[in-house]
Amino acid sequence: MNERKQIGLAVIGCGVVGRMRSTFAKDYPGIGWIGLADINEDLGKKLKDDIEADYFTSDFAELIARPEVDAVIVATSTWSHVDPILAAVERKLPMLIEKPLATDAVQSAMVLKAIEDAGVDAVVGYTQRFRRRFLVVKERIQTGHIGEATAVVVRAFMNQMAPTGELRLTQDRRHLTPMVVSGTHSLDMAMWMLGDQAKPVSVYAKSTDKIMGAMGTKDATFGVFTMEDGTIFSMNICWALPKVWPGAVYGLEIGVVGDKGVIDIEDTHRDVIIASELNQGPAYRPDGLKIEANRNVDFLTSFPPGDLHDGELWGPMREETNSWFGRIYLGKETPHATAAEGHRNLVLTMAMDLSAKTGREIQLPIDPVELMKGLA
Ligand SMILES: NC(=O)c1ccc[n+]([C@@H]2O[C@H](COP(=O)([O-])OP(=O)(O)OC[C@H]3O[C@@H](n4cnc5c(N)ncnc54)[C@H](O)[C@@H]3O)[C@@H](O)[C@H]2O)c1
Repeated sequence: MNERKQIGLAVIGCGVVGRMRSTFAKDYPGIGWIGLADINEDLGKKLKDDIEADYFTSDFAELIARPEVDAVIVATSTWSHVDPILAAVERKLPMLIEKPLATDAVQSAMVLKAIEDAGVDAVVGYTQRFRRRFLVVKERIQTGHIGEATAVVVRAFMNQMAPTGELRLTQDRRHLTPMVVSGTHSLDMAMWMLGDQAKPVSVYAKSTDKIMGAMGTKDATFGVFTMEDGTIFSMNICWALPKVWPGAVYGLEIGVVGDKGVIDIEDTHRDVIIASELNQGPAYRPDGLKIEANRNVDFLTSFPPGDLHDGELWGPMREETNSWFGRIYLGKETPHATAAEGHRNLVLTMAMDLSAKTGREIQLPIDPVELMKGLA
């Protein structure tokens, strides 16, 4: 017989991702109470009604302080994770945090230290780790099927609809670069696949901003990391593809060459295509976003969290969220990124931005204070 106490869950941020994750919580038998918080009351109250949550407040601190709360999901906007994380750390609550821990490497280091000092089990939402195709690749590399890796190449292409949807919500876009906001997912994938070999000692990168510069961000950053053992990792992202590009959100290619084999991953979503006289619209639809492009051809399944069927999301974010519920309710081991890996990923993405800004190869590891000084 299962005699575990059901969990009380707080979800901070009721936007696209908060809605998805709290909808899974509603169906998870080990969760008995759900509280929601969002500064946008209309959005939060609508979610409360839709999933019949137990509580809503516009003040995340009030929610986290409630006695019913045993665990927290931080799904606020990319630039507003720090305060809810610190409030949950104060109560030593386990957390699932959307990336990044912070958009400033010094703050991210401070947040990581608080998490580690308190001994809190905090993981970061690198959702793509939960796809079957990447789990099998990780397993093959980990068990030596391609020998030692020598060279890794990643190419991420993104439709400019996604950054447009996100950046319109803040004027402070200094650190909302393609690498910090989105490239971090592919960088995490490569670092995760490399496992113990992922010890970067330097990075050199270049950026361009011809298309997205007017929005206060960049179009693309291409860089090369060198690892301690000489392995090279080429990380490339462009998030300025035209809105009519059939890949609605994220398309990826990854190659991992080892001394005994190679793994080549085609993840551009050209295997399921719709062509129609009707406009397919965007796949990522945050509150209030209007996209004026006609999109008649669409590579389906390019929205990283998954896809809707009958109002339910199916895909990696379901696997990831339910797996985290198993982690906190059943004590299961899971492949989630740790807070330390989340911090590492932020520092590496920002080091690419620093290299592109200065034209210098950056030696790693780099002190967060020096990194932020260089980016200022
Ligand atoms: N894992 C993935 O695949 C994936 C996909 C998309 C977004 N994300 C990440 O998820 C997070 C949320 O993204 P989204 O697409 O849901 O954005 P969104 O804009 O739809 O939702 C964010 C919500 O947070 C709320 N918010 C902001 N500051 C707050 C505060 N201090 N207190 C309470 N509420 C606050 C906003 O009002 C908004 O409703 C971001 O960090 C983003 O990077 C992850």
